[in-house]
Parts: sequence; C-alpha cells; structure tokens
Amino acid sequence: MPLHGAGRVLREQLTQGDDGPADHVRVGRMRARGVITRGTTFTNRLRRLDRWLSLPPIGSPLVVDLGYGAYPTTTVEWHRHLRRRCRHVRLVGLEIDPGRVAAAQSFAVPGTLEFRSGGFELAGLRPGLVRAMNVLRQYDESDVASAWRMLAKNLASGGRFVDGTSDELGRVAAWVVHDSIAPVTLTLATDLSTMDDPAVLAERLPKALIHRNVPGEAVHSLLTSLRETWARTAVYSTFGPRDRWRRSLEALRDAGWPVLETPNRRRDGTITVPWRSVAPSP
Ligand SMILES: C[S@@+](CC[C@H](N)C(=O)[O-])C[C@H]1O[C@@H](n2cnc3c(N)ncnc32)[C@H](O)[C@@H]1O
Repeated sequence: MPLHGAGRVLREQLTQGDDGPADHVRVGRMRARGVITRGTTFTNRLRRLDRWLSLPPIGSPLVVDLGYGAYPTTTVEWHRHLRRRCRHVRLVGLEIDPGRVAAAQSFAVPGTLEFRSGGFELAGLRPGLVRAMNVLRQYDESDVASAWRMLAKNLASGGRFVDGTSDELGRVAAWVVHDSIAPVTLTLATDLSTMDDPAVLAERLPKALIHRNVPGEAVHSLLTSLRETWARTAVYSTFGPRDRWRRSLEALRDAGWPVLETPNRRRDGTITVPWRSVAPSP
C-alpha cells in the first residue's frame, strides 16, 4: 500500500463502521482496521515513555503494543520493563502487517508475550493499556478522531491508550494519554543532555497537534512559552539541565500553565499538561 494512500483508506473504513468496505487486512474472521505503513523502529526508542508509564495497567493486566514495526524490539524491551514491575502483566504485540507478525513469533515468551495480527479494533482484546507509538503519524490528521474512538471503545474499564510520536533514537517524543472517553493529557519529553532548545518538540507532536503548531492554537502558545522560560532560565545552566528544566516548568506554572509534572518526572525532562489546555480549536 503506498504511504500516501494510508489516510484515504483508513477514513473509508472508519467512517463506514464495523462492516466497512473491503480495504482492510483480513485476520481470520476479523478485519484489522488500519493500513500497513513504514515499519521504522529502533532499540531503546520508546524507553522514555516506558519509564513515564511505570505504573501497572489499570483495569486489566493485559497490555497491547499496537504497531510495533518491522522488528519487535521495542515490544520486547517494554515486556522486560513491565514484568520487572508487575509479574502479572501479559503483553500482546499487534501489527497490521502479517509478514511482521510472522517475523516476530520467535520473540514470543509463552504465557506473557505474544504477537498477533490486529489493528485499531485491537483484535477483540480488551486491554487496560495500549501503546501506539509512531503509528498514527503516517495517517492523515482527519483520521485521528475515528482511530481514537475505535481504540477507546475497546479498552477495559478504566483503561487508557497512548498515541504518540518520537524521533528515531527516542530523544524527543510527545504523547497523548486517552481514557475510554476522551483525551486526558499531553506529555512532551526530551533528553535534557542533548536538547538545546525546546523548539525540537514541535517536530514530534502527535498527529492530532502537529498541524496546529500555528499562532492562535493553544499548543503553539505552550511551545512558545516553554521556549521563553527555557531561554530565561539559561543562567541556571551551571546547575545542570535538569535544574534548568525544573525552573522552566515552575516559570510556566507561574505564567498560568497547568503543569502536572511531579518533581520526580521533572528530572526526566518531561512536561505534562491537561489535554483541555492544548486541544486544537474546532
Ligand atoms: C513506524 S512503525 C512504529 C514501530 C514502533 N511502534 C516504534 O515506535 O518504533 C509503525 C508500524 O505501525 C503499523 N501500523 C500502522 N497502522 C496500524 C494499525 N492500524 N494497527 C496496527 N499496526 C499498524 C505499521 O504496519 C508499522 O509497522
């Protein structure tokens, strides 16, 4: 499937409900919702998110990594990370490309890690947590709402999914946490040891926001304010980038931004705000 066709095909499927047209990937008797896209992935790419998501999943010990790419590297890493914190977690890697599902089978761990075909419908699973990183970035902005609705509908009670984007090495990332009803938060994350200017975050905004980084949109105001507070706190660089980041976030909060980070999180170079403070204008 050519990349430029991803958005069109998905929109046709999602707007026509569960009995949509024949453009889909068939999985047994189910249709995997979505389209096959580039499978780029990288070791440790999602480690920053995995650390941030360190709490056990709510509602169900079942966790899904949706769209793991050409190799299941990040799924295997997440499995290790989760199992160290919660022995009951069961992780299923879902991919819409059947060739990538077949290639991942040798990485399965009986009873705790498996790889199956599936799309935004989550292959009939009801997970407590879904990670969908660098998946929607290759779709059109207009596909996001329907993909989010489908994911949300299939969560376990109290469950959440994460839709986000990162650079290849995982040094810059951004993600939205969505519960079974609506988006809840936006998090921006950077590697403070390599980040010179928070402007780099703009390129990694999730699909729902990347085209909204323009004057008049709330996410543009947030990034502008963050750049200003980062520049203003340059004098604290001698205490290290973590100290400077913490002071930048405090300045943002003083300026009225509802920064939700805990002190522990701030050390990781992340900032989380309620979705309502950055939601795109209608
Ligand atoms: C760029 S890779 C991301 C790999 C990994 N998550 C990462 O961040 O490194 C995107 C993958 O998502 C898959 N994909 C796209 N749409 C999907 C969908 N609706 N359901 C499941 N997988 C999907 C593509 O086939 C591709 O392998």
